[in-house]
Amino acid sequence: DWTMAEFRQTKIEEIRAQVGSGKVICGLSGGVDSAVAAVLIHEAIGDQLTCVFVDHGLMRSGEAEQVVSLFRNSYNIPLVHVDAEELFLGGLAGVTDPEAKRKFIGKTFIDVFEEEARKIGGADFLAQGTLYPDVIESVSFTGGPSVTIKSHHNVGGLPERMNMKLVEPLRELFKDEVRALGRELGLPQAFVGRHPFPGPGLAIRIPGEVTKERCDILRKADAIYLEEIRNAGLYDTIWQAFAVLTPVRSVGVMGDGRTYDSVLALRAVTSIDGMTAEAFEFPAGFLPRVSTRIVNEVRGVNRVAYDYTSKPPGTIEWE
Ligand code: XMP
Repeated sequence: DWTMAEFRQTKIEEIRAQVGSGKVICGLSGGVDSAVAAVLIHEAIGDQLTCVFVDHGLMRSGEAEQVVSLFRNSYNIPLVHVDAEELFLGGLAGVTDPEAKRKFIGKTFIDVFEEEARKIGGADFLAQGTLYPDVIESVSFTGGPSVTIKSHHNVGGLPERMNMKLVEPLRELFKDEVRALGRELGLPQAFVGRHPFPGPGLAIRIPGEVTKERCDILRKADAIYLEEIRNAGLYDTIWQAFAVLTPVRSVGVMGDGRTYDSVLALRAVTSIDGMTAEAFEFPAGFLPRVSTRIVNEVRGVNRVAYDYTSKPPGTIEWE
């Protein structure tokens, strides 16, 4: 019989056996997966682990601060926090193709990470919070020839370039199992229960060109949406909820003026593992309330739409 307590113990022994007295470096993304991997590895090998958090400036409101404080204050795990917003936004200027965004972000992430790894004197192993669905979605599409649907930047690339071996203790797990493991490791429920967040962050929730201004607009709208979801007690029943800032502009009227601003789309889905998903049905009155708040409080948005597409045929993210 297989429980999370046993899994934790088994993995700790495996990590110790694999790593020996070597040094491990772990890239934190801000999400649950890399955090759980890091805490587990830290439990196994202590200060042989260093975490690097490359902050690309494409996080949600308050998210970077939460990760840094969790690691430094609650767990006392050595953490290097790199503020690389300008580098990422600079390189994203003029980039509109979704895969080009992912490739640039993935590559730049590696560049920054590599530089930080050098600064701390290198490492023998690279730890990643890769999950089972990341592994299979990146590799092939069931039943057909090998087709990449979306290149998940936390799989592949880095270890070859840095000549490091991989430590991926979550490779067999699905999301719900990672959450159970996180709870087993004592991570706060508010952190463990967080909705998944893609590595490329807000860049793939802004179809078209990503700018600082558009990131700020999206962060504000997204924060209002999530605040209303939490207040309604719905956060934990939803797999992922987020806003998308579309490149479409629409005409509106505010006071006695005409507006011509962006259309924001809201997305919320239920899912078991992210491989398939259904649009979430909000209780009556919820979406109108959120729409009104967003249009009133967020400059640059004058219309809000809700996305009812399931996966398949849609994907959860828009890019
Ligand atoms: P899709 O949009 O493919 O998303 O239905 C499935 C799950 O994967 C997340 N996702 C990503 N995660 N890098 C990541 O780390 C990515 O490039 C990426 N693209 C999608 C998405 O948020 C959802 O949970």
